Amino acid sequence: MSVDQRPEIENLLAEGRTFPPDPAFSAQANAQASIYDEAAGDPEGFWARIARETVIWREPFTTTLEWDLPFAKWFVGGKLNISENCVDRHVANGLGEKVAYHWIGEPGDKRTITYADLLREVSKAANALRELGINTGDRVAIYMPMIPELPIAMLACARIGAPHTVVFGGFSAEALSGRINDAEAKLVITADGGWRRGKAAALKPAVDEAVQSTPTIEHVLVVRRLGDAVESGTAMEDGRDVWWHDVVDRQSETCEPVALDSEHMLYLLYTSGTTAKPKGIMHTTAGYLVGTSYSHMQIFDVKPDDVYWCAADVGWVTGHSYIVYGPLANATTGVMYEGTPDTPAWDRWWQIIEDYKVNILYCAPTAIRAFMKQGDALPARHDLSSLRVLGSVGEPINPEAWLWYHEHIGGGKTPIVDTWWQTETGQILITPLPGVTTTKPGSATFPFPGIEADIVDGAGNSVPLGGGGYLVLKRPWPAMLRGIYGDPERYKETYWNRFPGMYFAGDGAKRDEDGYFWLLGRVDDVMNVAGHRLSTTEIESALVSHPVVAEAAVVGGPDPVTGEAINAFVILRLGNEPTKELGQALRDHVATKISPIAKPKSLMFVPDLPKTRSGKIMRRLLRDIAQGRSLGDTTTLADATVVETIRANTGAAEE
Ligand code: WTA
Repeated sequence: MSVDQRPEIENLLAEGRTFPPDPAFSAQANAQASIYDEAAGDPEGFWARIARETVIWREPFTTTLEWDLPFAKWFVGGKLNISENCVDRHVANGLGEKVAYHWIGEPGDKRTITYADLLREVSKAANALRELGINTGDRVAIYMPMIPELPIAMLACARIGAPHTVVFGGFSAEALSGRINDAEAKLVITADGGWRRGKAAALKPAVDEAVQSTPTIEHVLVVRRLGDAVESGTAMEDGRDVWWHDVVDRQSETCEPVALDSEHMLYLLYTSGTTAKPKGIMHTTAGYLVGTSYSHMQIFDVKPDDVYWCAADVGWVTGHSYIVYGPLANATTGVMYEGTPDTPAWDRWWQIIEDYKVNILYCAPTAIRAFMKQGDALPARHDLSSLRVLGSVGEPINPEAWLWYHEHIGGGKTPIVDTWWQTETGQILITPLPGVTTTKPGSATFPFPGIEADIVDGAGNSVPLGGGGYLVLKRPWPAMLRGIYGDPERYKETYWNRFPGMYFAGDGAKRDEDGYFWLLGRVDDVMNVAGHRLSTTEIESALVSHPVVAEAAVVGGPDPVTGEAINAFVILRLGNEPTKELGQALRDHVATKISPIAKPKSLMFVPDLPKTRSGKIMRRLLRDIAQGRSLGDTTTLADATVVETIRANTGAAEE
């Protein structure tokens, strides 16, 4: 085969295990196989039906979709308010006493917020925003820990049509000011701090620093979460800073939701790209509501009495779509936990599931692998039998981690939904439907009804089953991004120019002979070894399939013979010693499991891996380490000490 004919990305790792739905589950499932056919026959009609059936409209829409490639408008002519859809209507329907959030503080304090509470708090907060000079269309930055005032603040913004931009509370002052300036926000809503890993972590000082360079900010609204636990106290600047309890508490408990256009901007969420300047991903109102609420209901099989827990941070899109807007639109009872999974011990999550009888858990593979590393005994100590559905998002889940999740958390019975999507897509796009789809560990399975996904080669031609290439979307969907704030050219360039007429997600993927989609990682991370284009995911999954391995990352480095060589970084499960022999054994394991071409040239045991704050492995930094280069931008790293620890580490096995 000449190099030109080689596949865009090789398909190496075969996973043969399948998990058909349990007939008892199928019999009660929200999702029915028929929706695939309905949507395929008339995708727009399908979404229009859902929009009519699930949304409270102030004025009905007249056109389902206006598609001026690459600019979409959904449910044109309609008017609605998303906070009314998420809160008011449930109270009006007699669900005022239903719990919206069971909130658990890291130190163990608790709050229960019913839908009636939420309506009152959101209305008061919306009135306070108005008093602070915020009008429809003004942008508001939100920089908060995981406390109930965070979703309350978002809904308050949405109630008056002020787009919010939530900045993850772990980001620096610099990241915050950059986002405030790009959005030209007038107000920051924050807190004095939050509890993390047993410590009071102040947040307000970062806001004080950030607003030194944000001329548009007029006020800072501060929730008191820590109070006296902030050692140096919380400094408040006269005229600029106001306490939430001073301003919000005295407001009227009613606030009429503003009827907004379907395409009114709901929020901006910044996502870092390859260049330094983060992209302000724009989401609007009606399509986002339809896409998130319908997908949530179908994919998580949410029932009226279920307790649902999405363990992401609200600061990420997962939190926006599947902690706040989707679940609340469905009148779901959710769990919200402030702190880290290891505080006070690595079974905190299992304790919460036991205490609240959680039925649905949605989290990231990085968390699952961290739990795997801790061993099987901790979850075994808790009653997890309430769980009915498990979800995964954020990265490819290695088949072995999937099986561990299935067995040790799901008791070998719960369906797992491995959901692929992005900040840009707003809603889950590739996923099993529980009760309908036969799953395969490691595969996100099939596009959601109404979604047309494909895998193409470099020229944009669809790759036959069995092959790998670039993941694209060939039809607009309701919750899709509407653009990059202030930069339509960058929007076209980033997502639409690579393959004309198609949305390019930036991910590699393959489809097996049965048409299942397997995500292979970001295409920027694909390695070219002796002319073979190898995905990071498959080699990492081969390593994780070894019983001693909890987590692995591979990156390419220059090699005079093969062009690129594979460098592997491995985290062992607790109780295993890193030795040279074990390193060789793991390299051999990859060769046997996949192919000798995929055998890592070097393998290093590490205590941890460099990750973004949302848990994605930063392979770019690992490439720098493997090649002894000085490090590129490390500002998005969750734990800056990790890189130095890895550098100082010995125990590498090399050819
Ligand atoms: C990756 C998170 C494989 C992918 C919702 C995507 C996944 C990026 C999966 C978006 C999955 C997310 N399997 N990869 N189930 N889910 N990804 O914007 O590379 O934080 O492009 O949105 O995460 O990350 P983002």
